[in-house]
Amino acid sequence: MLTVAVLISGTGSNLRALLDEAADPEFPARIVVVGADREAEGFSHAEEYGIPTFMVPFAQFATREAWGAELAEQLAVWKPDLVVLSGLMRLLPAALVDEWAPRIVNTHPAYLPEFPGAHGVRDALAAGVAQTGASVIIVDNGVDTGPILAQERVPVLPGDDEHALHDRIKPVERRLLIDVVRRVAAGDLDLAAVAAAPAS
Ligand code: GAR
Repeated sequence: MLTVAVLISGTGSNLRALLDEAADPEFPARIVVVGADREAEGFSHAEEYGIPTFMVPFAQFATREAWGAELAEQLAVWKPDLVVLSGLMRLLPAALVDEWAPRIVNTHPAYLPEFPGAHGVRDALAAGVAQTGASVIIVDNGVDTGPILAQERVPVLPGDDEHALHDRIKPVERRLLIDVVRRVAAGDLDLAAVAAAPAS
């Protein structure tokens, strides 16, 4: 059974989908802890499932590195096989990425490498593209530059605002994330092999 830590910043709707899926005894992964960089709304989903939570408040640390060191300590307590960033809106410091790579994956609401960063949905709308998408990647030390594990296109519809478009992207993200976690847990997706492969 693959053990997973999920890190969030916000509502945690993707976390919720993963928790619902992991409640199925047939699902080969278990969420062992949910962490956040602030008092995140999404903690309620973990609490509902009786899953432990921890918070490492970014605002209370002098540097990203100090915050990351505390986050690493928390993760070390739980020793998950995989860390899922599911809406964690912070860049991880290099020391943490280097310690955990390639076992950290991130969901992103755009078709990477298009529109990386904190405003993937807004940036796609501003660019006036006809389609954007959702991606799940391995986290590296760039901003959303890691190897792509799964991605799918989502059309931009006339009249879409950021909220409407994001709401249509999220179900796709959820499906991709659940599938990636399932494949990693089942041994069908080897993160180390993907990370070691030359970029195509
Ligand atoms: C998701 O769309 C996730 O991809 C995005 O935040 C949202 C969190 O939603 N993350 C990023 O944009 C990271 N660059 P949720 O809290 O409802 O799951």
